[in-house]
Amino acid sequence: MSEHREFYLHPRYYDIAFDVRQTARECDFMGWLVKQHVKRPLKSALELAAGPGYQALHFAGQGIRSLALDLEPAMVAFLKEKAVARKVPLEVLQGDMRTFALAEPVDLAYNLFASFCYLLTAEDVLANLDAVHAALAPGGLYVIELPHPRRYLRNEVITRDDWVMERDGTRVQTRWDIDRAVPDPLTQICEVRSEYLVTEKGRTTKVRSKGRQRVFFAPEVHHLAECRGRFKVVAWYGAMDRKVAFNYSKQAWRMVVALQRAGAG
Ligand SMILES: C[S@@+](CC[C@H](N)C(=O)[O-])C[C@H]1O[C@@H](n2cnc3c(N)ncnc32)[C@H](O)[C@@H]1O
Repeated sequence: MSEHREFYLHPRYYDIAFDVRQTARECDFMGWLVKQHVKRPLKSALELAAGPGYQALHFAGQGIRSLALDLEPAMVAFLKEKAVARKVPLEVLQGDMRTFALAEPVDLAYNLFASFCYLLTAEDVLANLDAVHAALAPGGLYVIELPHPRRYLRNEVITRDDWVMERDGTRVQTRWDIDRAVPDPLTQICEVRSEYLVTEKGRTTKVRSKGRQRVFFAPEVHHLAECRGRFKVVAWYGAMDRKVAFNYSKQAWRMVVALQRAGAG
């Protein structure tokens, strides 16, 4: 069973609540990364732990062969409906990011908005890296977006954890990480308690959710990525934006790493 399952069992609320992204710019950034490092235009891309698939839908609308994978059947069904409604050819797969396999390799795999933090142990991370390695074409890229570790190491909260979004008469107030969870020093795992307050048709309901997430630091990501010779770390950024370096500036609110698949086979 996935972490924060109560949230992902309500994909429509998630879709409204988290529609706060610069989707087109994030996709341009990943396309640019592929051009820079793979030296060819982006032709195919796979979103892991895709949720409502903001970026996967965008790529599909751009003529890129676009795939999206998620563990939660309710989320998968919701994303399939979105793709049909938008009339874009998105391939939506139900599966676990640690064990999936693709029939045909892709140029780019991406794992955004801290979904990688659901890989709770080093074994989970290595299993994911093995699966992604097998799914990528030679030289392909894996882009991972993680929380900036300054939140945990310097106690600097640079994200808004309480916000309101509204669509078609449904108002969703999200309160993320209500307790400002501190990672367990032995496991680096936080228990993140969150909730939606959903108001529609004059009624307000609360959806509560708890989930474990692992906090990652740059040196261990580097080590885990390269330790089996499967990937080379090729770039770090402080946001899904090529102009934002990974440092302590105000703009650097994320830890984004690009891994390049090593080996020809
Ligand atoms: C934060 S949400 C969606 C994030 C999405 N990438 C975005 O950018 O909005 C995380 C998603 O990860 C999925 N998930 C959790 N564990 C997973 C796993 N082991 N394999 C695949 N998907 C997983 C959940 O079902 C959920 O839809």
